[in-house]
Amino acid sequence: MNNGIRIAASVLAADLSRLAEQVEQVLAGGADWLHVDVMDGRFVPNLTFGANMIEALRKLTDRPIDAHLMVVEPERYIEAFAAAGASVFTLHPEATLHVQRQLAAVRGRGMLAGLALNPGTPLALAEEVVADLDLLLVMTVNPGFGGQGYLPASNEKIRRARELLTAHGSRAFLEVDGGITPQTIAAAHAAGADTFVAGNAVFTGADPAREVQELRRRCLVTV
Ligand code: DX5
Ligand code: ZN
Repeated sequence: MNNGIRIAASVLAADLSRLAEQVEQVLAGGADWLHVDVMDGRFVPNLTFGANMIEALRKLTDRPIDAHLMVVEPERYIEAFAAAGASVFTLHPEATLHVQRQLAAVRGRGMLAGLALNPGTPLALAEEVVADLDLLLVMTVNPGFGGQGYLPASNEKIRRARELLTAHGSRAFLEVDGGITPQTIAAAHAAGADTFVAGNAVFTGADPAREVQELRRRCLVTV
């Protein structure tokens, strides 16, 4: 039972020399999704994974794989990520000229369509495309690196994002990403988030399975 809460373990923080083992650990701990941070060195100042990572993870689990595209022109990768087995494909509105077209293309390839908003990006960018969204991702750090601190202004933005979804009758997931720890998760949940990406909080602990359980437990603590 996940209590309507999803924990998405971000493999960016995993020890890649033991990827299969680490993934097994978080799945055993009840991680609902695996989150894959795709960075191109242009949209964000860092380089990471491509569709080959999705393909590798797909061999390890049937659970949803949540691809977060921090790249310019994410539309260039929709086909490859769908073919590799991605379940969610989330793009940033600044990275493409035709956001609605690309969200529709993502759905057209059988994936859930997500839109990610940087801390400095207004919620208004999501408003015109709410009907095209299966997931709204409120970034709680500036994207590019794991292990950064949760920006306190995020809670208010999450609250407004939840209002936006409710006002439009949207059933999209409301995801948060960056600096999610046992100390920050409850406030994000109380503000209205239902899906929590966690990298360092999960993988740098001695027991990743236990860290996932701890996040889920702390989520439900009243703040
Ligand atoms: C940041 C990425 C995050 C990152 C989160 O650019 O989008 O998904 O993996 O890492 P933590 O949980 O360590 O902040
Ligand atoms: Zn991410």
